[in-house]
Amino acid sequence: MARIVVLGRIPQPAVERLRAAHDVEAFDEAEPPSREQVLRLVVGADAIVSLLTTRIDGEVLDAAGPQLRVVANVAVGYDNIDVPACDERGVVATNTPDVLTEATADIAMALTLMVTRRLGEGERLIRAADPWRWGMLFMLGSSVQQRQFGVVGMGKIGQATAERARAFGMSIAYTKRTRLAPDLEERLGARQMSLDELLATSHVVSLHCPYGPETHHLIDAERLRTMREDAYLINTARGAVVDEAALVDALRSGTIAGAGLDVFEHEPEVHPGLLTCDNAVLLPHLGSATVETRQAMADLAAMNALAVLAGERPLTPIG
Ligand code: DGY
Repeated sequence: MARIVVLGRIPQPAVERLRAAHDVEAFDEAEPPSREQVLRLVVGADAIVSLLTTRIDGEVLDAAGPQLRVVANVAVGYDNIDVPACDERGVVATNTPDVLTEATADIAMALTLMVTRRLGEGERLIRAADPWRWGMLFMLGSSVQQRQFGVVGMGKIGQATAERARAFGMSIAYTKRTRLAPDLEERLGARQMSLDELLATSHVVSLHCPYGPETHHLIDAERLRTMREDAYLINTARGAVVDEAALVDALRSGTIAGAGLDVFEHEPEVHPGLLTCDNAVLLPHLGSATVETRQAMADLAAMNALAVLAGERPLTPIG
């Protein structure tokens, strides 16, 4: 029997799946474990099931010990895991792609509609019991039809979001290291362009790239200045892909029209400036937050851990 440590709350069926075969210690508090708690919990673990709120680096891997075989992250993003440190120690790292694609694309499209049609503002107005009356010029937003939706990072979530934007009558532009297959480009009506061209021409810029040193502050003050004044920035990727302070300046000064954000640079903190921007829609990292999706993510992570412990190839290894 192996020892599996689960570093936070995950849906119970996935914990039971692990428990059926192994000895499981699951950290069961609403807040993520502190660094000290992590370093204590992982001692002697053969498998770690990690969440994106906990950093897994060389120190944690060494604290676990040389018997550690797998780190199964319950997220598609794995910027919380030092993958080279895992590789150096022969520890397999896995993530949970695909199962959250549709849920995350839904949120990107929802943010697009919320910010372009001023839905957050409208809701706040009603809840504040502010006086209002229907009027031809009251609370006008911006139509998305016949506008360009720019996808930065055309992986699976980018493509699923592009499909939704296309269904709303938008044309699709995208950046990606390699070009999509011609039939997929045709199906999505998508045109590949450079980041500079995409930023300068898109009405909605939706970020779907992974976070890492190359994408840290990819959207900074300079790039925000190259966007259209009537453009909206949507971020469902990772907060630090955007320089949040620069974004606040851009939203205040009218450099861009608005932003829809599901992720923040220093989660769970939100830049106080964003809270004062009526042209920003702010969600608490809900991209994959459906019962079905979280269940599927946890199941996949559990299956990855179990596969490695059984000496098999995991379903979704990183890299
Ligand atoms: C992920 O899986 O990386 C998401 O951010 C979780 O919603």
